[in-house]
Amino acid sequence: MNISAELLSFLRGASRVVVLTGAGASQESGLRTFRDSQIGLWAQYRPEELASPEAFARDPKLVWDWYAWRREALKGARPNPGHYALAEIEKNTPEFTLITQNVDGLHRMAGSRNILELHGNLQRVRCADCSSVADVWDEDAESTPRCAKCGGRLRPDVVWFGESLPLDQLEKAVKATRACDLYFSIGTSGVVQPAASLARAAKSIGAILVEINAEPTPLTPAVDFFFEGKSGEILPALAQAAWG
Ligand code: APR
Repeated sequence: MNISAELLSFLRGASRVVVLTGAGASQESGLRTFRDSQIGLWAQYRPEELASPEAFARDPKLVWDWYAWRREALKGARPNPGHYALAEIEKNTPEFTLITQNVDGLHRMAGSRNILELHGNLQRVRCADCSSVADVWDEDAESTPRCAKCGGRLRPDVVWFGESLPLDQLEKAVKATRACDLYFSIGTSGVVQPAASLARAAKSIGAILVEINAEPTPLTPAVDFFFEGKSGEILPALAQAAWG
């Protein structure tokens, strides 16, 4: 892997770094990406058919069970070297913001601190009625769990298709992006807004753009540095080359 002296200089000299990660950043932790086909019992469904308020209203138990299956898959997942490298880069950067579309919690587990969870977190639930959030709840084999406060139906605290993103996280993400001098897009197909437009916002204020992806994406022609390959291999190499 060729890391130019120019990029190393940008890495070492950056004051305000913003990173956006997508499902590809967790692929080497054994988690399927969104565009991977569904497997097993869930192979008959597309994520868009399960991750929506309409699907939950239509069949809350089916949607709840899909997320319970995804939480189960998380139990065996551990951060990969790419997650740890991002925590290392954060330690070596004056201002570092990690924006993630992933709901698996692996960045925090790897030691990242300043994290913006644009799409929520699988390990939390939220009441569909009073919106109170919890990270513990009573599982019930027969029906979906109820809110301890109001008795409303609990749902995963993740952003579903057709729903708006958590405004506070989005505002912080846009603010950090508009002030950054180095922006990474890592393991995301960049097809879902507004995450997909953050890179262009960074470029518009003169930030250096670095993309790490297993294959080129629609963003690739616009970036300054593109690394084709696994983020779990490329990120540690970048951190090692920059800070030893
Ligand atoms: N290293 C780097 N990139 C990888 C790796 C890897 N090991 N494995 C896969 N990729 C890349 C793929 O090439 C793809 O571009 O990760 C990207 C995963 O894309 P998606 O599956 O579309 O996931 P993501 O971009 O996170 O989707 C964004 O869309 O479906 C919604 O809310 C959902 O958060 C999700 C959002």
